[in-house]
Amino acid sequence: MKVVVLGQGGREQALAQAILRSPKASRVVVIPGNPGMKLLGIECIEVNAVDDIVNFCRTENIDLVIPGNETVILSPIKEKLKVYGIKCFSPDPQIARLESSKVFCKQILQEAGILTADYQLILNQEEGLQAIEKHNFSSPLVLKADGLAQGKGVWVCKDLASALKSFEHLIKSFGFPVLFEHCLVGRELSAFAICQNESYSFLGTAVDYKRIDENPFSANTGGMGAYSPCHFIEEKDQKEIENIFSKILKLTAQKNLNYQGFLFAGLMKTEKGIAVIEFNVRMGDPETQALLPRLKSDILELLMNPGQNRCDLSVETSVHVVMTSQGYPTADMNLNHKISINNQPDMIFFSGVKLGSEGLINSGGRVLGITALAKDIERAREKAYSEIKNIHFAGSYFRKDIGL
Ligand SMILES: Nc1ncnc2c1ncn2[C@@H]1O[C@H](COP(=O)(O)OP(=O)(O)O)[C@@H](O)[C@H]1O
Ligand SMILES: [Mg+2]
Repeated sequence: MKVVVLGQGGREQALAQAILRSPKASRVVVIPGNPGMKLLGIECIEVNAVDDIVNFCRTENIDLVIPGNETVILSPIKEKLKVYGIKCFSPDPQIARLESSKVFCKQILQEAGILTADYQLILNQEEGLQAIEKHNFSSPLVLKADGLAQGKGVWVCKDLASALKSFEHLIKSFGFPVLFEHCLVGRELSAFAICQNESYSFLGTAVDYKRIDENPFSANTGGMGAYSPCHFIEEKDQKEIENIFSKILKLTAQKNLNYQGFLFAGLMKTEKGIAVIEFNVRMGDPETQALLPRLKSDILELLMNPGQNRCDLSVETSVHVVMTSQGYPTADMNLNHKISINNQPDMIFFSGVKLGSEGLINSGGRVLGITALAKDIERAREKAYSEIKNIHFAGSYFRKDIGL
């Protein structure tokens, strides 16, 4: 099979490498990919416009296209590929709203009878101000923008003043509708499945680290690291998680919104059980770089027949640590420095890199990541951190507590 993965970061590299491990794969291309992936021997083709990608897939007789991120999923690519009989493994834009509209997601969660935070839909300023006044702040109030906000549309407000300020900011940046949610208390994890209509293969769990440092109120990022599997869930939790996927897929199928693609559940283990914070209609970055190296099953078999096979995962634990540019997550970053790698780690994933005159240079916030696999989380951590010490560029930064 000839497969194209669409995207340019570590997640897409991890997907491409998992596919390359399949005996069924005869060619795997990442579009556009990046020069770091190329150095690892992965074929990357730099085309960007949807029509050019479709043309490439036609002329190269590509059998399967896998979009990595939500922007591509929401583009008309699937529809255009379909005209030429090329399979695109992603949800149709209509059901991809599970991610791109938090209001739609909440409505579906409620209808499916899945545990989630209670919420109020706010349609105008007056309703918002009234709801804030009414809240007694014995627990925080969570304010959310409805649409895609690249991690910048959620505020967890502990007091009246911060709620008023965040509400003003939220409506200025994103407009209405807005969601107000009760604050869930517990530990967060992510769970992933490969889905087709009502069937799915459960892919596993991971825990990611979103903040730039150990302080839980520090700046939000695209993700600073992850480990897999999540070590604080029990058998009962696992059943609840699988039940969440069953319920959501059953309901969407009933509504003729058949889901096809990866499905990512953002979860919280609460006193009442496993609650859903949100769904994403793709794999996570960096969770994919932690999860897929553990996959022993043939990913192409899973993608061709979701739900027919169980995913076989290594019992080992993985730890993934992300290295970023100085200044990230602000726009004021220290870029274009040569990246030196003294000892090639077993598993390195490239994201924000470019080719300079002397080799790779850092060109984005999240530059690269290291995954280490070991018998237990302590050993995986130790290995990841000893490997990342061999990588240097001016101003490089990484969190020291992934998997702690
Ligand atoms: N109801 C809630 N209770 C507690 N924390 C929440 C709640 N909703 C969101 N959060 C926190 O905010 C983060 C971002 O919210 P999420 O809905 O996942 O939005 P996005 O990932 O699109 O920014 C979550 O990972 C979680 O830490
Ligand atoms: Mg989230």
